[in-house]
Order: sequence, then structure tokens, then C-alpha cells
Amino acid sequence: MMDNSSYSFHVKKLPKIIVDDLTLEKLNKLNCIGVKELDIEEDVVDEILGDKSYCGGEISDEILNLVDAYIESNLEYEFFLKEKVEDEVTFINNLFSGYEHLLKDFREAGSISLCELEDNDWNEEWKKNYHPLSVTEHLSVIPSFYKGSVEDDNLKKRKIYINPGLGFGTGTHPTTNLCLEYIDNTFSLIEGMRIIDYGCGSGILGLYFLKYAKDVQVDLFDIDKDALENARDNLSLNELNSTNVFDIYFEVNKFLNNKYDLILANILLPVLKDELSTFMQILKPNGVIVLSGILEEQVEELLSFYQEFIEKKKFKIHRSSKEGWVCLVLGNEL
Ligand SMILES: C[S@@+](CC[C@H](N)C(=O)[O-])C[C@H]1O[C@@H](n2cnc3c(N)ncnc32)[C@H](O)[C@@H]1O
Repeated sequence: MMDNSSYSFHVKKLPKIIVDDLTLEKLNKLNCIGVKELDIEEDVVDEILGDKSYCGGEISDEILNLVDAYIESNLEYEFFLKEKVEDEVTFINNLFSGYEHLLKDFREAGSISLCELEDNDWNEEWKKNYHPLSVTEHLSVIPSFYKGSVEDDNLKKRKIYINPGLGFGTGTHPTTNLCLEYIDNTFSLIEGMRIIDYGCGSGILGLYFLKYAKDVQVDLFDIDKDALENARDNLSLNELNSTNVFDIYFEVNKFLNNKYDLILANILLPVLKDELSTFMQILKPNGVIVLSGILEEQVEELLSFYQEFIEKKKFKIHRSSKEGWVCLVLGNEL
């Protein structure tokens, strides 16, 4: 075997909780640089759906639940490893650390196989899912491994490099995309402003301002430490060192005394509701707030929750939408 070979573990019937709880720390311990979820085969779904797979029309909740249950109890994953690990036992023990009580059932029901991949095969697998993309009229988002490549050089727009890691936000999701489109047209208005990217994930929204707006101070905040680690990675990938970035906060109470000209919050409805009092506290009198992550059918609920705030501030509301998602910009001069 060559020293630089790569390996993968194929794991079947992995309990969902283990996948949901994978952290960067655990992935490091597993020696793992990528995880791929394997799709359920179409003919298996057809088998569960029976006649329904051919006649179309409404599928009952009962049958959909059956498919969900099947998927949940038959999850299959490929773990890509850079270096060889000792053996299957070590790998499985690390994978199940904290969930040892599930091991016996897994050993009875599950299966695991180790295979050697072609050199750097994992790398190619990983890259297949990510390409340089033009995400708005002015912005391209480029996966870190394309930095400096021909594809990168050929892109003329503003560019942000993102390591597609554990932080949400590569620019393609409609909720992020709507915010980026808003940012596309605001650079001249934003000069000198203080901004917070609230729920920054990969940091993509704050990074866009940091990289292309003049004299801005951008703070990033997230409750997820893996996302913050990814955001930090992305800041250095884009050569935005500490002179451009003033703070990356780990605790809300560290920025509660700050006042922001602009709050960017692409989070889901329940969090947008929970965080309203914080937003009220940290927004400057003439500040603007961008709320994304709202489904079309949730807009009314959000607006009625924010109604008092909107009336008190005499906010105008600008609404944009994409693929069932809505972004609301609240401010006096939009
Ligand atoms: C949909 S992602 C948005 C990421 C990125 N800003 C973008 O636009 O693509 C939402 C982020 O909000 C974070 N989040 C969830 N609840 C939060 C809270 N209460 N306070 C701050 N961040 C939160 C999540 O960890 C996640 O990274």
C-alpha cells in the first residue's frame, strides 16, 4: 500500500442521533475529512410506495411516514479518511463515543466495510459537490480548493472564498441568496457603518461587506462553535485579518451594549421571534434590519410579532422572495 493512499469507511444502518451529533471534534478524532450521505435507491422507495409509485397523485401521510421511517433506520454514510486508521474497531468505538449503549444493536443490525480509495479520491468526491458559482449579479462564491485556479481567474465579479465546512452559507440557499442580493446594491449606502451578521454560519454575509464595502466594522455572531470556526477559516481565506474584523463574539452579552446600523439575520422564524428584544436593543435609531429564513406562509406571523416594533420605528418594509422563502428588510430609508 502506498503511504499517501486514502481510505473510506462505509457504514450502514447508523443511528440517526450519531450523525446529527457529529461535531468537528469528533470528526477529527475519527481522522475524517469528509462525510457523504448515500442516497436511498429509487427502487426501494418504489417498493414501499407500491401502486402509488406508478399512479401519481396525492401520497398519504401514512405512506410518507413509512418512507421516512425506512430512511431513518437505514441511513448509509461514507466517511472519507486522509490516513489509515488502525482498524474497524477503533473507528467504530470513536464513532459511537457517548453512544455506547447503541453499539450492541448496531453490531447486530448494522454493517461496516473499509475500502482503500485511489489517491486523493476523497478529495475528488468532495469537490464534485462544490464549484465556483455566480450567486448574484455581482458576486461569485468560490470553494477554497479552487482558489487561484483557472476557474477562479476567469471570474470577473466580486469574489468570496468559502471553505464548504460545517458553517451554513455557501451562497446558493435561497435565504442566503436573498440577503446577498440585498447586499449587492447597498455598498455605497453602507460606507462607515457598523454591522452585525447575526447567525453568521460560514460568515458569508459579513464577509461580503468586509471585503467590498468601505470602512465598515462587521461583527459576526453565532451560537454554533463549529460555524464560528468555519467563519474564522473563511476570514483568513479571504485575507481579512484582524484589522478588518473587530470582534467575533462567542456570547451575546458581549455585544448587547453595542449599537448597529445594520443587522443581518438569516435565521428561522422561531429564532427571529426569540431575538426580537435583542434586535430592538442593539439597533441604532435609524438602523436597518434584514430578516431572512422566513417561509412565505410565515410572513404574516412574523409581521404581526414585529408589528409594535415596526410601528414604533415607522419602518418601511421591503420584501423579496425566492423558491418559497422571503427576505424582509425593515428600515426608514430603503
Ligand atoms: C440559516 S443559517 C445562516 C448562515 C449565514 N448567515 C447565511 O446567511 O447563509 C443560520 C445560523 O444561525 C445560527 N443560529 C441559530 N440560532 C441562533 C441564535 N439564537 N443566535 C445566533 N445564531 C443562531 C445557526 O447556528 C446558523 O449558523
